[in-house]
This record gives sequence, C-alpha cells and structure tokens, in this order.
Amino acid sequence: AIQSVTARRVLDSRGNPTVEADVLLADGSLGRAAVPSGASTGAREAVELRDGEPGRWHGKGVDRAVAHVNGEIAAAVVGRDADDQAGLDAALVALDGTSDKSRLGANALLGVSLAAAKAAAAAHRQPLYRYLGGADARLLPLPMMNIVNGGAHADNPLDFQEFMIAPVGAETFAEAVRMGSEIFHTLRRDLLSAGHSTGVGDEGGFAPALRTAEEALDFVMAAVERAGYRPGADIGLIMDPASSEFFRDGTYVYEGEGVRRTPTEQVDYLAKLIDAYPIVSVEDPMAEDDLDGWRELTARVGDRCQLTGDDVFCTNEELLREGIRTGVGNSVLVKVNQIGTLTEALATVATAHRAGWTVVMSHRSGETEDTTIADLAVATGCGQIKTGSLSRSDRTAKYNQLIRIEEELGDSARDGHGSPGRPPRR
Ligand code: PGA
Ligand code: ZN
Repeated sequence: AIQSVTARRVLDSRGNPTVEADVLLADGSLGRAAVPSGASTGAREAVELRDGEPGRWHGKGVDRAVAHVNGEIAAAVVGRDADDQAGLDAALVALDGTSDKSRLGANALLGVSLAAAKAAAAAHRQPLYRYLGGADARLLPLPMMNIVNGGAHADNPLDFQEFMIAPVGAETFAEAVRMGSEIFHTLRRDLLSAGHSTGVGDEGGFAPALRTAEEALDFVMAAVERAGYRPGADIGLIMDPASSEFFRDGTYVYEGEGVRRTPTEQVDYLAKLIDAYPIVSVEDPMAEDDLDGWRELTARVGDRCQLTGDDVFCTNEELLREGIRTGVGNSVLVKVNQIGTLTEALATVATAHRAGWTVVMSHRSGETEDTTIADLAVATGCGQIKTGSLSRSDRTAKYNQLIRIEEELGDSARDGHGSPGRPPRR
C-alpha cells in the first residue's frame, strides 16, 4: 500500500520550475517522477497549474501544485493499493473534480500517477515497461530525432517548429542512435561551413537562421547523404510544423517566409513537400481549429504519409474518437502531461490501436532527466518515439534508457521497430 506521497519543485530543461513527486510504499519501494512542460501547447490540454505570481519565477511557480500533492492528494491516496493504477487515477481525477484538471493541476496529478506506477513496478521487481506492458513488451520504438528547431522552440525565422530524421533502415535501436548521431554531427559541420549558427533550440536540434522549410529540408537531405545514408531507404524525414502556432483568422501566416496560405493552399504546399522529399510523417500539419483542412489533407495524402495529431487531440481519448470518426489524420501523438494521468494516456493509445491508427510516444519541449516515456513506448508497443535531438541530456536520457532496455531484452527483443503509417502487430 502507499505509505507516503511527497512533492518538490525541481528545474526543467528550460530552467523553469516543475513538479517532482515521490510515492513510497509500505515495503520500502520508491517511485519518482518529474513532470514535463510544453511551449506550443494545445488549447484543450489538461491545465498545468502555475502560481502566476509576477515577482516569482516570472509567474511560472508551481508551489500551489506542489502543495496540492503534499496536502489533499497525499491525504486521498495514502493507504491505496499501488497495483490498482486505474483505481488510483480515477480517484485523482475525481478529487480534482474539474473536466480540465485545473483545480489541483494536471502537473500535480501526473507526478503522482507516474510515481505510483514506478513504485508498483519496483515492488514487483520489474522494469516499468514490463510491469505495464507484460511479457509482450518487446518492441523498441523507431526514434524520430529532432535535428532542426524553429517556431516556438527557437529564436530563428523558421516557421515550422521541428525537422526530424527517423532511421527506418536501422536494425536495432542502438544502430538507430548511431545513425542519428552521425547525421547530427554532419549537419553541424555543413551548417558551420555555410556560415550558419550551430546553437540549438529547446529540443536540442540546431536553430540556424533559415527562412523556409525547403531550405531546412535541403540541409537535412545533404547531411543524410554526406553521412553515408540513403534518404528514404535508410532515413525517413519528419516534420512538426506545429501549425496551430501560426494559424491566424483562418490563414496560415508564414512570417519567416513572408507569405500567407489559405487552408487549401496549406494542403497543396504540404502535399508538394511530401512528394518532393522522403517525408514519412507530419505532425500537426494543420491547425487544431482547422478540422476541414485536416480532413482535406488526410484525404489527399493520408494513404502515403503518417499524419499525426498533437494539438488537435491533446492525448484526449474523446477528442481522438471524434477525429477517428471524422477522418482527421491517421495517427496520434501521446504526451502524458496533456491529459494528466497514466490510465487516461494508456486508454488513448488503446483507442488508437483499435482503430488501426499509429501512436507516437512523445516528450515535451520542457523536459527533465525523467525517462518514463522511454518505458511507456516499449510498454505500449507503439513502435515510435519522439524525444528530441542527439544532444542535451534531457533528450539523450530517453535514448540511453531505450539502449538499456534493448540490452536487457537481448534476443527476446522483437526484430525491427515500428514504422510510420503502420500499426504494430499485436
Ligand atoms: P511542446 O512542443 O512540448 O512545446 O508543446 C512539442 C510539440 O509540439 O510536439
Ligand atoms: Zn507537436
């Protein structure tokens, strides 16, 4: 049973405070989880409770969320069975009492939810991925590695937020990491010799002062080839335009490029990029409020490109169901803090898989050394993970955890990895 629940504030990768929770069981097992934080958040995400005191932490304090864990939440969950994750999470949701978790804070709830799962895994002497996923949890995810940052994650003029590479030709996770690292360092040299900055953005990818997606994609293509890999066969390209960030009054406003695109022009533009480059997946190609545009793009390219909903679904099972029913994309990004409890995040994964949709487990742009999502990717067998660049410990911590998991699984690891557009075999 749960003996104590405590929280503290720690720093995230942007240097802002965030919640870290500890759950201690009567047998001495400890679970600890730190909560991540987004910058380009969806409007329907569960609420991250911030103190809003201008004189402290620039308003970003989490003292109230921490106090909620140490007070009300601890009082409600001490004595509960940590094995009953669904019961615990339902109790947390009921205790909060709001539909968007704004009273106690999704950051308070998620810290406790994840820490309880980790404590229960420790009590059973199982790694988290096996405790949650059972003996079938043997598939390593294909990593979508961020190598160029723009949008809300960097101070450059690039309108699209993220450009990623996925080593689709890698036979093991460790090989995927090697390929990614080689391309990352090749890109660094290429940027430097072209006179660009090699400083990095929030997710550890480079943030050169490029203006158009084509310029970024051309640099990425050249780096893939110069590193000795075949675009397409070895490396797939992925973008997260994070389009909600530049959708204003019904139009996509490209400030770096200096153009506006109507939803139909946005569809045409993306379809052209998908045809011109070996792009295997695009996340948030259309804005969360442009569902007609989403449907138009899905009908146009959904058969040959994974279209992953982040802001549009916010890891919310109900929003996802509606999207599945109405043809909005074919894949869902899962960020545990968008919904606030582990059980709800797992329900979203299950709903996607039942519909034949793919799932991408994901970090936030504000992260910590916590590696829970690496285990969740293996536990759910979702086959794909997006967790940033090949630099910065907040990102590489997840890759390193997956390297450990692959080593631990040894010969029992399933061959290969997930693929964009293809749901994993069950
Ligand atoms: P966020 O960005 O964590 O800043 O929301 C990540 C993403 O848009 O995928
Ligand atoms: Zn996104």
